[in-house]
Amino acid sequence: MMSIKHFLQFNDLNGDEINYIFERAAWIKAQFKGYKKYWPLEDRTLVMIFEKASTRTRLSFEAGMHQLGGAAIYLNTRDSQLGRGEPVEDAAQVISRMSDLVMIRTYEQSIIERFAANSRVPVINGLTNEYHPCQILADIFTYIEKKGVIKGKTVAWIGDSNNMCNTWLQAAEVLDFNMHVSTPPDYEVEPERANLYGTDHFEEFKDPMDAAQGADLVTTDVWTSMGFESENEERRKDFADWQVDADMMKVAKKDALFMHCLPAHRGEEVTADVIDGPNSVVWEEAENRLHVQKALMEYLLLGKVK
Ligand code: CP
Ligand code: NVA
Repeated sequence: MMSIKHFLQFNDLNGDEINYIFERAAWIKAQFKGYKKYWPLEDRTLVMIFEKASTRTRLSFEAGMHQLGGAAIYLNTRDSQLGRGEPVEDAAQVISRMSDLVMIRTYEQSIIERFAANSRVPVINGLTNEYHPCQILADIFTYIEKKGVIKGKTVAWIGDSNNMCNTWLQAAEVLDFNMHVSTPPDYEVEPERANLYGTDHFEEFKDPMDAAQGADLVTTDVWTSMGFESENEERRKDFADWQVDADMMKVAKKDALFMHCLPAHRGEEVTADVIDGPNSVVWEEAENRLHVQKALMEYLLLGKVK
């Protein structure tokens, strides 16, 4: 089988490829904003498989594929054979014979890896328990739009060492910036789960205020991710001091940005005055999912077009 490029985790692409995608995203965004038709993926079909809920990911992939001239098909595990025990490998064989590109949101990373190993077409990770690479593409693209280069900057991650945190850590390696991470005790980063080896782009802080100190960007996520709902009550107690509030933003750089992948819980991981305040770029961040994923799909299907 011809070698296929997948995007299963952030470091599946190197720095040159990621920067190329950012350049394309800026150009594709400008076409969209100018109401200019750009249909490089005419007649191509994206299949989107969801095992977990989604608003932004579904919408941005589905709208994005239409805007590039292609079609998108939504499948979920409730009303397809995927939820009834058909082996992932068999599903991959069949789905990838009828489509050009597949996006999957699922539980364990191993599921998407098994799918990709049996797929004839590129596979994109639309969130797993371990990673959320499309979101971090959007986040860094947003940072670059607002502030310029991210290389050498400091991103403070406050809260759970979840799929978002793991992906930020990988991105720091690929794009050469620094991560300051603070999690509650017993929720620390597991370097192996993040697929990190000997990184020098990552520092851990017991006190979240120390992690935020001097940061260029402060970011967080829900205390309880999808699939971990049974831990909700316990996490509410354990994470109570890991809330991004105005005092925390004050110790970051004066013009530091605040990001959150959304959906957010005001009053838990972030206060309303921060997420709705002047440093927050959460709406631009959400919109940029559309533009970076269009650039990603173009790259995975057509390679470098410029
Ligand atoms: N941020 C994000 O992935 O949102 P959805 O869960 O709505 O897709
Ligand atoms: N960490 C969150 C992100 C949601 C987009 C989750 O996995 O539920």
